[in-house]
Amino acid sequence: MAYLNENYSKLKAGYLFPEIARRVKAFTEAHPDAAGRVIRCGIGDVTEPLPAACREALHNAVDELGHRDTFRGYGPEQGYDFLRQAIAQHDFRDRGLDLADDEIFVSDGSKCDCGNILDIFGPGNRVAITDPVYPVYVDTNVMVGNTGEADETGAYSGVVYLPCTAENGFVPAIPEEPVDLIYLCYPNNPTGAVATREQLAAWVDYARKHHAIILFDAAYEAYVRTPGIPHSIYEIDGARECAIEFRSFSKNGGFTGLRCAFTVVPKSLHGQTRGGESKPLYPLWLRNHTTKFNGVSYPVQRAAEAIYSPEGRQEVDALVDFYMENARILREAVSGAGLRVYGGIDAPYLWVRGPEGVPSWTMFDFLLREANIVITPGSGFGAAGEGYFRISAFNSRERAIEAAGRLAALDFTKAG
Ligand code: MLT
Repeated sequence: MAYLNENYSKLKAGYLFPEIARRVKAFTEAHPDAAGRVIRCGIGDVTEPLPAACREALHNAVDELGHRDTFRGYGPEQGYDFLRQAIAQHDFRDRGLDLADDEIFVSDGSKCDCGNILDIFGPGNRVAITDPVYPVYVDTNVMVGNTGEADETGAYSGVVYLPCTAENGFVPAIPEEPVDLIYLCYPNNPTGAVATREQLAAWVDYARKHHAIILFDAAYEAYVRTPGIPHSIYEIDGARECAIEFRSFSKNGGFTGLRCAFTVVPKSLHGQTRGGESKPLYPLWLRNHTTKFNGVSYPVQRAAEAIYSPEGRQEVDALVDFYMENARILREAVSGAGLRVYGGIDAPYLWVRGPEGVPSWTMFDFLLREANIVITPGSGFGAAGEGYFRISAFNSRERAIEAAGRLAALDFTKAG
């Protein structure tokens, strides 16, 4: 008999987005007339075509694979030099940030990296996680046994939750107690909030004081429009000593289907052995990546490289502007309907406070039934998200306008 990982039995329901898809499917099966009217503003999945620069790079790379002279088999697990160099140069060194090409690890997604990174940390780390939060951080910690059981609100024992509320601008206060791993995501999913330089500096100071590691998810950095808001944790002095950063091409280049991302692991990061010895984390991640992964396909890496070409950059800027115009349209509609809206300025997500006393899943059902709009219930991101819902601005303009019109026309007092 094979023993199974019993930590999985601690997980709540299904993963959030498949659960939403399941409920939407049940609704459309029960109401076939409404099926064609459903507008999906739930999962943050891009809708607009890939930039032409990326498509051209893909075509060329596929052609190269069609000739004996330029054919390639296995690539380097950590990514081809051409892409690591382009990333390190354009995203970091051109912005005055000190980072070597080989501190970039190219992967097929930040979701996988955020989960796999736990392999290089030992058991017993005290983990701090914001609430609400991208559920992957919590669930992967449950899977590896870093938590106890969940209570009735879904909060796991053993986790230090960092409440993100309207009062603190959705940027958590520094904990009183020491922790070992800290998950931060800015621009934030789900609240759309951003963290200032001073706020991130306070986290870097805290992490260095306690020899903790910050796991910084910057998947939405391309959406930062407000001057002075950091795009990377490495803009903060000392972050090279305490932070790993996750980045993705999903939301800037529209690679959610193509799959390409990267993780930055500076060589200056250290962890501690049980015997109290300080050791670099870099060789562990290198070993992990080279053992468990065979790299992103060559054409996809060429497509990612094209994002950094002058044409690619222009196209990505236009894509980001496009989604942010959707965010503006939706934001105006929802606040016009009398609800308090956060986010949507430096991030493609709107975080909406529902009417007093209406639970998030009730709001989900109400919006699906009355407006045929799919949102993400705030409570799916954690107990502190209860009473909120998230609207994704990733949509065609036509659908964003249609959704805005339906939302503006709704009587939210009937939601309860
Ligand atoms: C979301 O909707 O929160 C994201 O699309 C999920 C993801 O990026 O994996």
